[in-house]
Order: sequence, then structure tokens, then C-alpha cells
Amino acid sequence: MPGGKAKIKAAVVTASDSRHPENDVSGTTLVGLLIGMGAEVAARRIVKDDLEAIQETLFEFAVREDVNLVITTGGTGFSPRDNTPEATQAVIEKAAPGVGEAIRAASMSKTPAAMLSRGIAGIRGNTLIINFPGSPKAVAECFEVVRPVLQHAIDLIDGDPGH
Ligand code: MTE
Repeated sequence: MPGGKAKIKAAVVTASDSRHPENDVSGTTLVGLLIGMGAEVAARRIVKDDLEAIQETLFEFAVREDVNLVITTGGTGFSPRDNTPEATQAVIEKAAPGVGEAIRAASMSKTPAAMLSRGIAGIRGNTLIINFPGSPKAVAECFEVVRPVLQHAIDLIDGDPGH
């Protein structure tokens, strides 16, 4: 919709090796926050922390017509099974480093451990992909950082010339 407001159509992807869905509170938190800002949540998926599984899921959502925003939760840390940034890097066509920089900068005032998140962001086609850390607290804090620019970001990707 060039020149107009594009509807935010989100997919929430949680990278988690947990076999207990009740541990996936971060995805639930994020769905609530997205709906709260008027976004549509088109899909929600929990995937194992495997690089290929996350990459395939991100690709699937990036090419789907009914999705223009993918936010991942989890898998951004330093452990051997933290593969979300690498999976994202493999799917994006354009990097959006300012998003990760802003998230880490703002998060540093919450916890020094913010520097341990390797989360990135970028664009594939008309879809923006953003990595959040995996705890519900981190998800809420990181969402506060990106919320003010999400609509503008999606409008720009959609072809709005901006100002
Ligand atoms: N960012 C914010 N805003 N709030 C947090 O509590 N936790 C950190 C960091 N970023 C945190 C945060 C911690 S403890 C870790 S280990 C890393 O994110 C990576 O988290 P992940 O492995 O769940 O992605």
C-alpha cells in the first residue's frame, strides 16, 4: 500500500529446545504486546534451536504474503545451541543494524547481561525480521524499544517514500 499505512502482519517464532510448552511464555508475552499495538498475529511457531530449523521457519514466513514482520524470541546468547542470529543472517537480504544496536543500548540500562544478546535484524523481501532474547522480561523490554518505529519501518518496506 504505497503512501498509506500498511497493516502489521506478524509471525512470532520462538527458538527453544524445551519440551514443555508452558516454558514458552516469551512467545505468549510477545503475541499480547503485538495485538495490544493493533498488529495482526498471523502465525506463531516454536522451533528447536537447530540452525536449519530456525532458518527454514524464517524463510517460510518471510515469503508468506500474510506476514511482513517476524519477531523471534530466544537463541541469541552465547551457548552452543544459540543459533537464532546465524539463522536470521542466512535469510535476510538487507541488514538493519540500528535495530539490534538500539535494543542492546536500551537494554544495558536494565541489565549488563544485555551485551550477551547477539540478536540482529534485517529485511527479506517485504518482511522485517527482528531477534529478541528469550525471557518474557527481555521480550517486554525489547518490544518497548522497537514499538515506536515498527509501523514506520513496515510502511517504508511496503514502499512508502517516507518524508
Ligand atoms: N535484554 C533485556 N532487555 N532484558 C534482559 O533481561 N537478558 C540478557 C540478554 N538481553 C536480557 C536482555 C541475557 S541474561 C541473555 S543470556 C541474552 O539476552 C541472551 O538471551 P537468549 O539466549 O534467551 O536469547
